[in-house]
Amino acid sequence: MKWNFALSVGAVAAFPTQFFSLWQNDEPQLRGLELGKINFLHTTDTHGWLGSHLTQNDYDADWGDFLSFVELFRNNTIGEDRDLLLVDTGDKRDGNGISDATELVGQNSSQIFNEIDYDILTLGNHELYTPEGTELEYRNTVLSEKFKNKYVSSNVEYVDANNRTFPFGNKFLYITTKNTRTRILVLSFLFDFQRANHKAVVTPALEELKKDWINQVAGYYRNKIDMVVVAGHIPPTDPDNELKLVHERLRQLFPDVVVQYFGGHSHIRDFVRFDNKSTCLQSGKFAETVGFLSIDDPNSKDVKFFRRYIDFNKRSFRFHSMSKNIFTEQGSKLSKRISQLRQDLGLNEIIGYIPKSYYLSARNLSAEDNLYHLLTSTILPILEGDVSLKEVEDRLIMINTGSVRYDLHKGNFTKDTVYNVIPFPNDWRYLKLQYKVAKLVEGVLNGGPVIFNLAPPEMRPLSCIRATKKTFDCPFINDPTLSEGFTTVDDDGCYGDDTPHRSQFQFKVPNVVQTQINKDLSDESYVHLVFYEFMTAHVVNATNKISSSLLGNKSPNYTLDDAKYYGGKATKTLLNEWARSNLLNKKK
Ligand SMILES: *[C@@H]1O[C@H](CO)[C@@H](O)[C@H](O)[C@H]1NC(C)=O
Ligand SMILES: *[C@@H]1O[C@H](CO)[C@@H](O)[C@H](O)[C@H]1NC(C)=O
Ligand SMILES: *[C@@H]1O[C@H](CO)[C@@H](O)[C@H](O)[C@H]1NC(C)=O
Ligand SMILES: *[C@@H]1O[C@H](CO)[C@@H](O)[C@H](O)[C@H]1NC(C)=O
Ligand SMILES: *[C@@H]1O[C@H](CO)[C@@H](O)[C@H](O)[C@H]1NC(C)=O
Ligand SMILES: *[C@@H]1O[C@H](CO)[C@@H](O)[C@H](O)[C@H]1NC(C)=O
Ligand SMILES: *[C@@H]1O[C@H](CO)[C@@H](O)[C@H](O)[C@H]1NC(C)=O
Ligand SMILES: *[C@@H]1O[C@H](CO)[C@@H](O)[C@H](O)[C@H]1NC(C)=O
Ligand SMILES: [Zn+2]
Ligand SMILES: [Zn+2]
Repeated sequence: MKWNFALSVGAVAAFPTQFFSLWQNDEPQLRGLELGKINFLHTTDTHGWLGSHLTQNDYDADWGDFLSFVELFRNNTIGEDRDLLLVDTGDKRDGNGISDATELVGQNSSQIFNEIDYDILTLGNHELYTPEGTELEYRNTVLSEKFKNKYVSSNVEYVDANNRTFPFGNKFLYITTKNTRTRILVLSFLFDFQRANHKAVVTPALEELKKDWINQVAGYYRNKIDMVVVAGHIPPTDPDNELKLVHERLRQLFPDVVVQYFGGHSHIRDFVRFDNKSTCLQSGKFAETVGFLSIDDPNSKDVKFFRRYIDFNKRSFRFHSMSKNIFTEQGSKLSKRISQLRQDLGLNEIIGYIPKSYYLSARNLSAEDNLYHLLTSTILPILEGDVSLKEVEDRLIMINTGSVRYDLHKGNFTKDTVYNVIPFPNDWRYLKLQYKVAKLVEGVLNGGPVIFNLAPPEMRPLSCIRATKKTFDCPFINDPTLSEGFTTVDDDGCYGDDTPHRSQFQFKVPNVVQTQINKDLSDESYVHLVFYEFMTAHVVNATNKISSSLLGNKSPNYTLDDAKYYGGKATKTLLNEWARSNLLNKKK
């Protein structure tokens, strides 16, 4: 195997830590950054959101604005006495029309993404669902002139047409930073992902770390580095503690150096302190967040880490880059390219109108502005199947919550909104059941394992909840002058977000939700239980479980064939039609 070494050369310089504060009177008082000798900007789980959030003012920057920010931040804030490193930790497609509306998903969005001069790049599980997606990432990014010495993956391999395997980028990188000449060993791990297509092989990180190469690398570099960076598509806090276990192993290999992790995958803002010389930053999702992390001096005995979550908007970019004009030539050019792409893909096409915002998990399930409530109370009842309701008293329509992937915001409902919120087509199946059986199916499915066939598991808002215990009792902010947004709780407390916001609760979201039966039905009466085709095995199994516990030996044994074709339009189509009717009503 051949290792690549990425080296950049620059001047040695001093490295003062400084606290910046600068704000304008008409804006909420933003929280500044504490710079260190080594500074990072981190993005993760962008999922194609490169064209800004057009109905959310708090995330009004596009990828071109981010490019401008990086340039200005480097020149105005970082200067030549410190270093800035840019890191992304994967999941670059599936979530926005910019990546998903092209014939090959990610075809154009990956070119736009790659305009940022990342120093460290890696992949997420979304680069591994389809062979075409994996090929695209490998050929256009991993092997590209620009990133071939920057792409790193320690536990994923690419499989070529002759079944030969190659590291998906470099197994590791050795970097000397430009200004402070800090020597960094870079590793990268994808979480234990078992559904990769045949073009890739993922070895669980803990297994990879038992291999000989890591001992050799550690042995060779241990005394030649100032710190280790691990770019992971792994959440810092997850129920399996995967990253914590990775850290325990790396601490054996590197007992005394700073080990800085960047995490991803669970789509939250998070910061964890593993030990006095090791932390992990996770920077949210969907280009709503740029994570900032600084290390005052990796060689200090009492090294200090500082984290900040920057809202992905022009106000924050202006503030942190200390710049009046926040658009650079390169950045503006890229923004124009993005607009052109949005136009070419028809993403601005207005389909309908949304009169107020609906949330997946920031409102409880019975709240009027919960999106699942909207679906079960207003959208799904519109469904007209091919099956007569005459033979039954009523029907229940059930969907899995993972089939919806973003909040539905007030404003224009465009072709892009469809990609953001419910892009998946679906067919309907139904079972004719006694009400006493049908009414228990939802409960059984909500007690069972996650149903994720329509959407990858981390799209589920459920995982927005930090897995470990909160260590701080942070205030719930109710200030009506602030916009609703992130008020993150992490290992450093309550004030990591750069922008003060009104807090949002995060409610737990169940596996499935369904329409309500409003009639007073007797247990013995019959109903149609209607559900997504892909859920058939789950529903049949749950039904058998309930039926046999209620009826014992007399229970019918339902099979997949008992779930019959129902007909009718997909949920996404029903939602589009509802949005269109709002637009027509508005025009009247
Ligand atoms: C930033 O600095 C570089 C190098 O000095 C220079 O080429 C570039 O034009 C500067 N960019 C801006 C926006 O000032
Ligand atoms: C590669 O491996 C797959 C699965 O093991 C096999 O079906 C295929 O024939 C192999 N291809 C080549 C070129 O060896
Ligand atoms: C970590 O730092 C704290 C505060 O400086 C100190 O009390 C503690 O002993 C340190 N722990 C270790 C394991 O060095
Ligand atoms: C999208 O990608 C194709 C193929 O690389 C290219 O021809 C086209 O110009 C791109 N469109 C935009 C708007 O960048
Ligand atoms: C759900 O939210 C609504 C609207 O905020 C509120 O009126 C209701 O009391 C809440 N229900 C529960 C069970 O918390
Ligand atoms: C929404 O669409 C209307 C046309 O129907 C347009 O005039 C308006 O500018 C759009 N609003 C936004 C925020 O894009
Ligand atoms: C349903 O039950 C069958 C038989 O017990 C089992 O093989 C199958 O995996 C189950 N399917 C689901 C989705 O639970
Ligand atoms: C139900 O039917 C399936 C397939 O017809 C069979 O494999 C299974 O053993 C049956 N279960 C019961 C409890 O009769
Ligand atoms: Zn993701
Ligand atoms: Zn992921």
